[in-house]
Amino acid sequence: MQRRLAPTLRRLARSFHSSVALHHGAPPAGGPTVPINFRLKDGSIKTVAAAVGTSILDVAHAFEIDLEGACESSLACSTCHVIFEEDVFDDLPEASEDEEDMLDMAFGLTSTSRLGCQVMVTEDIANATVTLPAATRNFYVDGHVPKPH
Ligand code: FES
Repeated sequence: MQRRLAPTLRRLARSFHSSVALHHGAPPAGGPTVPINFRLKDGSIKTVAAAVGTSILDVAHAFEIDLEGACESSLACSTCHVIFEEDVFDDLPEASEDEEDMLDMAFGLTSTSRLGCQVMVTEDIANATVTLPAATRNFYVDGHVPKPH
């Protein structure tokens, strides 16, 4: 019980201090880009020029790809869940313990799942294919039962 409580408290604290979250926003104008393929929920592929230094979630939003990101990259949801190819996944920087905690709540978790807001675009992932899961679980909304005060 105590072990599960600590990550919850850390997440709660982070929600009040956005500086802990990775930077997100518009890609830098004129910076380097690499091609990234998004496998959409209908199975089609959309290839985009992803700005190096931005997150996969930022890229998805910049190109109107349906990846939610309900907590705006503050590691308090799993709605930015994406799935990488195994060889790409193996070369990514390791997920933090907090990211792993959130991934545990992701719908359709796989062994190559990551949170899109925590994976930054680098030249190393050029031509990678990022698969959007068939569904996401937003535990802020799904099954939320308000408690009386
Ligand atoms: Fe919520 Fe990535 S947007 S954890």
